[in-house]
Amino acid sequence: MKSRMDALVNEFDIALKTLSFTKPGTNRETPGKEFKDTLNQKDTKLAQRLMRVNLAGEVAAQALYRGQATASKDPEIRQHLIQAGEEETDHLLWCKERLDELDGRPSIFNSFWYLGSFTLGYAVGKFGEKTSLGFVEETEKQVVKHLNSHIDQISLTDNKTHAILKAMREDEDDHGQAAKAAGADDLKEPTKKLMQLSAKVMTTLSHWL
Ligand SMILES: [Fe+2]
Ligand SMILES: [Fe+2]
Repeated sequence: MKSRMDALVNEFDIALKTLSFTKPGTNRETPGKEFKDTLNQKDTKLAQRLMRVNLAGEVAAQALYRGQATASKDPEIRQHLIQAGEEETDHLLWCKERLDELDGRPSIFNSFWYLGSFTLGYAVGKFGEKTSLGFVEETEKQVVKHLNSHIDQISLTDNKTHAILKAMREDEDDHGQAAKAAGADDLKEPTKKLMQLSAKVMTTLSHWL
């Protein structure tokens, strides 16, 4: 009973640290530090919106991985999920740092994305390890596509944001491949569509709020 309580307290602590952007990452330096900002107002506005979306996505990623790890019964897979989540923490911190530089603000729905994503991750994890890994693989594939669209949209003069998005894209691609190599099942088409739809709701709302 005590250990369950401990786990719950620990999970809550991680959620709070994520939502206050104080969760420690792996200490990799923020990409693009060498560039100076010379953005006009229009490009700054766009970058603020896109980085708010990406920050919301990284909050959700944290919660998905934690939810999936919590549900996982296989210690090795569980560790795999936790480790991937830790690397994702760098993305969370990079996006927050960039958003601060741009004078943007995080999505007002971040707590909601966390709770919803943790629940979803936990539910997916209950379907078993192969499905859970399949979910990671598909999520990361969709994230890579999403990042590509942001890389295309962002102003060519915005070197800092470009550097961050490209570094993230590389990691997401690695995570997807690692999940596949660890034995991911391919998800059914309707499941993939549903994932796209829920991501669309999150990215659309976070764009503005
Ligand atoms: Fe990420
Ligand atoms: Fe990811």
